[in-house]
Amino acid sequence: MKEQIRNAEGKLGILIPGLGAVATTLIAGVEAVKKGLAQPIGSLTQMGNIRLGKRTENRYPKIKDFVPLADLNNIVFGGWDVYEDNVFEAAMKAKVIDTSMLLSIKPELEKLIPMKAVFDKSYVKNLDGENVKTEKTKYELALAVVEDIKTFQKTNNCNRLVMVWCGSTEKYIEKSAVHATVRSFEEGMKDNNPAISPSMIYAYAAIKMGIPYANGAPNLTCDIPALMELAKETETPIAGKDFKTGQTLMKTIVAPGLQARALGVNGWFSTNILGNRDGLVLDDPENFKTKEISKLSVLEQILQPEHNPELYGDLYHKVRINYYPPHGDNKESWDNIDIFGWMGYHMQIKINFLCRDSILAAPIVLDLALFMDLAKRARMSGIQEWLSFYFKSPQTLPGLAPVHDIFKQLMKLQNTLRHLMGEDLITHLGLDYYQEVVESM
Ligand SMILES: NC(=O)c1ccc[n+]([C@@H]2O[C@H](COP(=O)([O-])OP(=O)(O)OC[C@H]3O[C@@H](n4cnc5c(N)ncnc54)[C@H](O)[C@@H]3O)[C@@H](O)[C@H]2O)c1
Repeated sequence: MKEQIRNAEGKLGILIPGLGAVATTLIAGVEAVKKGLAQPIGSLTQMGNIRLGKRTENRYPKIKDFVPLADLNNIVFGGWDVYEDNVFEAAMKAKVIDTSMLLSIKPELEKLIPMKAVFDKSYVKNLDGENVKTEKTKYELALAVVEDIKTFQKTNNCNRLVMVWCGSTEKYIEKSAVHATVRSFEEGMKDNNPAISPSMIYAYAAIKMGIPYANGAPNLTCDIPALMELAKETETPIAGKDFKTGQTLMKTIVAPGLQARALGVNGWFSTNILGNRDGLVLDDPENFKTKEISKLSVLEQILQPEHNPELYGDLYHKVRINYYPPHGDNKESWDNIDIFGWMGYHMQIKINFLCRDSILAAPIVLDLALFMDLAKRARMSGIQEWLSFYFKSPQTLPGLAPVHDIFKQLMKLQNTLRHLMGEDLITHLGLDYYQEVVESM
C-alpha cells in the first residue's frame, strides 16, 4: 500500500466555498504558522502523534512525519463568497483573531479575493450578498465553477486540489428523485430543479473534476446517490457532514465514558448562544432544522437505547441554538445531563463550555484538506468514513450506522494511517506482553 501512495509534490490548492469566520481563521492561522507567529494547535496532522508497533518499542512519531502529507509551505488558498470582502477584511469582520496578528499577515490575506458565488437565497434567507454568478441554469453555474477551478489551478500552479465547504448552512431538504442518479441530477441542473442546492453545484463541479470534496456544514450536498455515483466514476474521495466542534465535541467525549461505565442517562438538555454570521443564518427555522438533525443524531448512536432500554430507554435529548450578537464567535454552551447510578440514584452533570467556534473548527478544515489529499494520492475513493472523527454527522454507506464515539473514531483514523503505511494495526489487546513475560519466567 505504502508504495502506491503518490508523493505530495508541488502545490496543493485548498478551495473553499464560503470565506467567513471558519475559513478566514484557517487561512490566517496557516499564514501565521508559516511565518513562525503561531502554532497549529488542535490539528492532529500537525501536532498529533501516533503509536506504532508494541508499547515496548516506544515509537510515537508525529503524524506529519509518518504519512506523506502536503507541507504547509506548499498550500495555496482560494474560494468563493457572496460578499466581496477579501480575506483580510472578512477576518477583521469575523473578529476571531486579534487585529495585531491580522496586520502582521495582511499582505498574504488581502490578496485572496473571493470568486463570485453560486448562491440561491431560497436556501439561505438571512444573507444578502452581491458577489454572485448570474448564469441562467444550475448546469451552467456548475460549468462556471469548473472554469473558476481551472483558472485557479493554472494561476497558482497547483499540482493538486481539494475542496472543503465552509459556506453557510442551507435550509433542510431531503433526498428526492432528482438526486438518484448522475443522469437525473444533470437533467435536474439543466431544468433548474429547486431540490438542487448551491452546495451541490460546487460539489458536482469538484467531484466531476476528481477533486476531493469535504462538507463542513450539515447540508445534504454529496450525501446523495448521484454524487456518490459520480465520486465512484471519477475516483474521488468525499466526506461529510458538519465539523464536530464545541458542544457536540464535548458530547461525543462525555457520552462514551458514561456508557462505558454502564451509567444511565435519562435527560440531556443542550443550549447554545452564539452571535456570528453562522448564528444569524441558523436563526431561521428552516436552516436551524438542518443543524438540529445533525446535532441530535449523536447520542442515540453512542448510547444505543434499543440495546439497553434500562439505561437509555427514557432518554430525553433536546438541542437549542440561540442567536445572541454580543457574544460574536465566542459561543457559549450549557449542557444539563441527568444521569443515574447504582440502584437508580439520580445525579447531574453540568457543562458550561465557553468556546471559540472558529478556533475549534479551523484545524479541522486543515486536517480534512490534508487527509483528503492523502486519500486521493492513495487511490481511496468514495466515502472516507475514517474521517468521521471530524464530523457531527458522519457520512457512511447507505444502511451503515455512523460511529460517533470520538475514541472509536480516532482508533479508526489511526488504524487507517497504519494500514496505509504498512504498519501493524493496533487492537489494544496487549495480552501478548503478559504471555511473553510468563513464557520467559
Ligand atoms: N464554527 C464552527 O464551529 C462550525 C462547526 C460546524 C459547522 N460549521 C459550519 O461551517 C460553516 C461556516 O461557519 P462560519 O462560522 O464560518 O459561518 P460564516 O457565516 O461566518 O461563513 C459562511 C460564509 O459562507 C458564505 N456563503 C453562504 N452561502 C454561500 C455560497 N452558496 N457560496 C459561497 N459562499 C457562501 C457566507 O457569505 C459567509 O461568508 C457553516 O455552515 C457552519 O454551520 C461551523
